[in-house]
Amino acid sequence: MNNRIVIEPSILSADLARLGEQVLQAEAAGIEALQIDVMDGHFVPNITFGTGIVKAVRPLVKALLDVHLMITNPEPYLEVFVNAGANRLIVHQETCPHIHRTMQAIRALGVEAGVAINPGTPVSVLDEVLDLADVIQIMTVNPGFGGQDFIFSQLEKIKQLRQLLQQRNLSTRIAVDGGITSTTAPLVANAGATILVAGSSIFNSEASVAKNLEYLQTSLADIMVH
Ligand code: DX5
Repeated sequence: MNNRIVIEPSILSADLARLGEQVLQAEAAGIEALQIDVMDGHFVPNITFGTGIVKAVRPLVKALLDVHLMITNPEPYLEVFVNAGANRLIVHQETCPHIHRTMQAIRALGVEAGVAINPGTPVSVLDEVLDLADVIQIMTVNPGFGGQDFIFSQLEKIKQLRQLLQQRNLSTRIAVDGGITSTTAPLVANAGATILVAGSSIFNSEASVAKNLEYLQTSLADIMVH
């Protein structure tokens, strides 16, 4: 069971005019994974980037590239994102009427399978696919933009999911995404999250990427392993 708590920067808040520099700074600071937020302006009220950004970042870093597909009808795009260099694909349960088949399809592509649920979606919708997920991502903001406030009601959901996974003896990891700061990081870690996706607290400030990561890691110092 991989209980180590990792911080996973989301490039949504990076300075895209110098994205290469920023991901290299993150890798130099020791990150293991980067989250790439793909948004289609339909499932979420924002449009970001596609496979081009994955292709651009891939050769620069060894980090796991975790592509978060905030798009309607993601199935036709799974393979192209894997071919672009994704090591994990996270789809939203809300966009996948055949979520069981979609998770199988992601695994069949040889990458990690993740499923995300929005703040308004209960954990129970994942009952039949818990064993197919390497990662379950609890959105702690309503997806679409970085820099939003953490939704504290999701802490109970994280705890509930952790209990469920323990009951089923599953090693699926819990990721959280949205509003992760040095204040909320220990709360979600204590609730059972081991992958903390953070955008604006890593990239949107005067301090360096390395310094911002250090702040977050310090806030987790006494709960690094469950
Ligand atoms: C959905 C995005 C954001 C992003 C993290 O809106 O998925 O949650 O990754 O944004 P911050 O860390 O700035 O809340």
